[in-house]
Amino acid sequence: MAGHVPVLLDEVIRALDPRPGQTCADCTAGLGGHSAAIAPRLAPEGRLILNDLDERNLTEAAARVGEAAGGAVEVETVCGNFAELPRRIAAMGARVDMVLADLGFASVHVDEAARGFSFSRDGPLDMRYGGSGMTAAEVLNALAEDELAEIIRDLGEERHWRRVASAIVRRRAERPFETTSELADVCRSAIPRGADGIDPATRTFQALRIHVNDELGSLDALLAAVERGARAAGGGQSVDESWLAPGARVGIISFHSLEDRLVKRAFRRLDELGLGEGGSRPISAGAAEVSSNPRARSAKLRVVRIGGCAV
Ligand SMILES: C[S@@+](CC[C@H](N)C(=O)[O-])C[C@H]1O[C@@H](n2cnc3c(N)ncnc32)[C@H](O)[C@@H]1O
Repeated sequence: MAGHVPVLLDEVIRALDPRPGQTCADCTAGLGGHSAAIAPRLAPEGRLILNDLDERNLTEAAARVGEAAGGAVEVETVCGNFAELPRRIAAMGARVDMVLADLGFASVHVDEAARGFSFSRDGPLDMRYGGSGMTAAEVLNALAEDELAEIIRDLGEERHWRRVASAIVRRRAERPFETTSELADVCRSAIPRGADGIDPATRTFQALRIHVNDELGSLDALLAAVERGARAAGGGQSVDESWLAPGARVGIISFHSLEDRLVKRAFRRLDELGLGEGGSRPISAGAAEVSSNPRARSAKLRVVRIGGCAV
C-alpha cells in the first residue's frame, strides 16, 4: 500500500461532492485511496459501500477506509464484480448518492509478480482480478489463432496482431505457456520495438487482461444499470432497479479509449434522455499529477449527475 496514489483525487472529490450523511458506492475499492478521502466527508452517519473483485485488495481497502472514517461512517464490503453491485445495493434497500468506478488494475497487480499481470516481472500467467474463470495462460493455450488475433487487435489495438497471434500459436505447439516472461519474450521477438519506446509486449498484455476479466462486458453492465437506476430515480421503473438517489453523481475513471468510448456514449445517452447531465466533458490530470504519477497521463474522469441538474 505504501506509495499508492489515487488518480485524479481532487477532481473526484470535487465532482462527487460527498456530504455528511450521504451514501457512496466505490465499485473498485482497490487499496482504498479514493474512499479514504471520501469517508471523512460522509461523517456523521454516512455510509460507504466498498466493492472489489480482489478479496485481498478489499481487505486492505476496508482497513484503510475504516481508519479514515474513524467510526463515524458505516463501511461495508462487497466482494464481487461491479456488474452485480447495483442489484446488491437495491437488494440492501440502499440508494446511493455517489458512485465511483476507477477501472482496471491496481498498482499491486503489476507490482506483485505472482499476480501474473506484469511483462517486466516473471510470474505465473494469471491476470485474474477475482481468481475465477480462465487464467491468461489457459486462454493463450486454448483459443484458436483467429480468436487470439481478434483479441490482440481489438482489445490491445496492436498493429502487429497477426504476427503476435501466429508467434503465440507456434510457441505453444512446442510447450504450453506458463509464465509472463514466456509471453513477453514471444511478443518481443515477433514485433520490433516501436519508435515510441514502449515494450512490444504492452498491448498484448493489455488485450489479454481485458479479455480474461471481461472488462468491457462488466463496464457495459454497470453503465446499463446506471441508466436503469436513473429511470428508477425519476420514478419510472421497478424498485429492484432502484439503487441511485435522485441527484446521484456517477464518476468513472477510464484508462484507454475502448473504455472511455463506452462511458462517453452511455453518459451522452443519459443526457439525451433527460436522465442525467454533465457526462460529455472528460476531466484529465494536470501536468503536476502526470509528472508525479505516470498512470494519470491516460486517465479520464467523466461524471454524470442523475436527474438532470448541472454537474
Ligand atoms: C485502479 S484500481 C482502484 C484503485 C482505488 N480507486 C484506490 O484509490 O485505491 C481498480 C480495482 O478495481 C478492481 N476491479 C477491476 N475490475 C473489476 C470489476 N469488474 N468488479 C470489481 N472490481 C474490479 C481491481 O481488482 C482493482 O483493485
